[in-house]
Amino acid sequence: MAVLALASLAGCMRAPPPVAFHAEGLPETLSAWHLFKLRGGELAPNDGVLPYELNTPLFTDYAHKLRTVWMPAGTAAGYRADETFEFPVGTILSKTFYYPRLAGEPADGARVQRSDDRTGTRPGGRLALAEVRLVETRLLVRREAGWVALPYVWNAAQTEARLMRGGSLVRLELVDATGASEPAAYAVPDQNQCAGCHASDLRSRVLHPIGPNARNLNRDLAYRGDDGGEIIRNQLAHWQQAGLLTGAPEPASAPRLADWRDSAGASLDARARAYLDSNCAHCHSPRGPGNTSGLWLGSDVVEPLRLGRCKLPIAAGQGTGDRRFGYVPGDPDASILSFRIESVDPGVMMPELGRSVVHREGAALIREWIAAQTGECGTGDEPSGTDVAENNNDQQGRGP
Ligand code: HEC
Ligand code: HEC
Repeated sequence: MAVLALASLAGCMRAPPPVAFHAEGLPETLSAWHLFKLRGGELAPNDGVLPYELNTPLFTDYAHKLRTVWMPAGTAAGYRADETFEFPVGTILSKTFYYPRLAGEPADGARVQRSDDRTGTRPGGRLALAEVRLVETRLLVRREAGWVALPYVWNAAQTEARLMRGGSLVRLELVDATGASEPAAYAVPDQNQCAGCHASDLRSRVLHPIGPNARNLNRDLAYRGDDGGEIIRNQLAHWQQAGLLTGAPEPASAPRLADWRDSAGASLDARARAYLDSNCAHCHSPRGPGNTSGLWLGSDVVEPLRLGRCKLPIAAGQGTGDRRFGYVPGDPDASILSFRIESVDPGVMMPELGRSVVHREGAALIREWIAAQTGECGTGDEPSGTDVAENNNDQQGRGP
């Protein structure tokens, strides 16, 4: 009897409070949302909180990211082929930034591993607290009036994250597998900066999610089965079956962005275009904050000139490194794209927000992509010099 009673008491204590959607206010702590359980040395999504991954994510100083979605019971997101899904009021999207820890380093140690953003997460989106340094958890919450962006920064003990609307700077030392290290001034954006990327439609200027669209979610993920085992499933199919998504086609008929690292399974062009889509297109689109540049980097863009091929910049000077064109086929060293991706000068670097170190592997991919292209700029080769001039006039005519 005593044993039974104890067991049920323990069972009772184990049941976490359900996710709390705050329809208003700015909860000071992440725990107020009950999105995660912190126990048994793990951070794990609460019941009903679904982890997800993207084919090609945004680079942020080599941070690893655990992404989750939660929607109120009985609601679902509406599928859209080309844009982020239409999420219902009450949706909470989260992104937790962490680094794998180096052996022997404390949880708040500056020295962390510089590694590929995919190691560290266990099936079901669980993180072993002894193996990671948690930095911040960002929320996008869909309220009646629209999306709210909330940045929470983890404490040194990794027991709680607090709302930091003014942002924060975390000094890190990124150590690679060979032991070589480089400093990073990891910036937790302030709340206004969230809009710099998430209000990516200049006409409306409203915040909205970026990652959860069909092309980026269309991939397999290891879920955790009821028995604790691992189940591999396509995310679109899983969301639909779990009642979180309506109207989605079979994954095979849905768009799919390449995984930028998948050199065995995707072409160089597809990988580079996926990288530009995820890292640049939220600003570089006809309606985004980078639209005045006339450089559009979404995966749907077909016109080479729009992608920067032989494209004259809108303004000469610092941001060009004295290079003439967005990119010159075959010649990354003559290309503004590579110049800006490889810079850490705040007045030059691209993206202009969200990183303090160069993404070497990403920069190398874009170099390889440019190097593999043939043709010349301004020699009558397609697109011709006249096209470039017309294009730039066209831009000026339209205005910002
Ligand atoms: C440098 C641009 C940039 C800034 C600044 C930025 N984000 Fe994001 N964010 C992105 C991109 C791109 C994605 C999707 C790709 C990914 O998750 O890797 C994303 C994803 C997210 C997600 C997951 C859901 C989604 O939209 O894909 C959340 C939550 C989020 N951001 C919250 C925030 C908050 C809160 C802030 C401000 C503290 C912020 N972000 C600042 C670019 C940015
Ligand atoms: C947070 C928004 C934002 C992101 C993300 C971003 N850019 Fe930009 N980009 C801009 C803005 C705004 C301009 C115009 C002002 C300037 O040149 O600095 C610009 C200009 C440029 C230019 C000069 C274009 C021209 O023809 O004049 C290049 C090249 C460029 N970006 C490349 C990139 C690449 C490559 C990425 C992704 C790796 C990227 N940008 C990501 C906002 C962004």
